[in-house]
Amino acid sequence: MEIKKVLVIMGSPRKGNTFRACEELRGILEVKLKVEFEYFWLKDADIAPCKGCLACFSLGEDRCPSHDDIRIIERKMEDADAVVFATPVYGMNVSGQMKIFIDRLSYVFHRPRFFSQKAFLLTTAGILGNDEVQKYLDTVARIWGFEVAGKAGTVTAEPLSRRQVEQNRNVIARAAGEFIAALQRPVRRSPGLMDVMVFHGQRAAFSQLREVSPADFRYWKEKGWLDRGTKYFVDVPVNPVYHVIGKAVGWISARQIKKDLVDNPGVS
Ligand SMILES: Cc1cc2nc3c(=O)[nH]c(=O)nc-3n(C[C@H](O)[C@H](O)[C@H](O)COP(=O)(O)O)c2cc1C
Repeated sequence: MEIKKVLVIMGSPRKGNTFRACEELRGILEVKLKVEFEYFWLKDADIAPCKGCLACFSLGEDRCPSHDDIRIIERKMEDADAVVFATPVYGMNVSGQMKIFIDRLSYVFHRPRFFSQKAFLLTTAGILGNDEVQKYLDTVARIWGFEVAGKAGTVTAEPLSRRQVEQNRNVIARAAGEFIAALQRPVRRSPGLMDVMVFHGQRAAFSQLREVSPADFRYWKEKGWLDRGTKYFVDVPVNPVYHVIGKAVGWISARQIKKDLVDNPGVS
């Protein structure tokens, strides 16, 4: 059996509920798969908050003024078969550590790359916010290129009833089943409508922004995503109806961007 590398990006600042939920997931995976489970604790990493210079977007990530551990984690993600985004809910959002990490990889929204990796979204909340945070992480992971294959949110406010403990366990077990199936599947799932629309919307934008955003233009060109007839980032079957809708989105976006560039050529 092939070993699957699972990288946990841990957004909790302590070994608490989120860590325990990850360990529960690990236990289920280890029964069905050969897994190498690695934690990357954001709290221990040297990752500076984004300074907002925008250099990564327009010129390239190598122009980022912060030289710290962000490249290490990016390489680890590229090297993994799957990434678990694990975070407690803080103020109805991800933890600060997780948000800084996402901000620092924001250029990946423009230049997606994690097409060979599955993502699992794991959140824990005292009471409220799991759904909202998972929705946010789902958008992030999908636009970065991941196939999202499992989401679980546990409720942790003390005192925990026996029923809640049971429910938390079931939520993780159910999502783990989907994750295991995805890790065993040799081919990637076909993209959904939103994924196809995002592809064509971005394609329309970056094909027009050679001057404004040369790093994005170069990346899209090198990947062949600007070539005529390209249907998606990777070679997977695309629902023909989604393709037609995506093309329409691309056409409308391109027309608008062309107009904006004429009206306001100096503004990026
Ligand atoms: C700063 C802070 C903010 C929090 N915000 C929320 C919240 O918005 N909603 C909620 O239900 N729980 C909230 N909680 C509770 C945590 O989400 C919950 O206890 C979680 O399981 C903690 O995970 P951990 O043990 O890995 O730190 C908050 C806790 C902290 C410390």
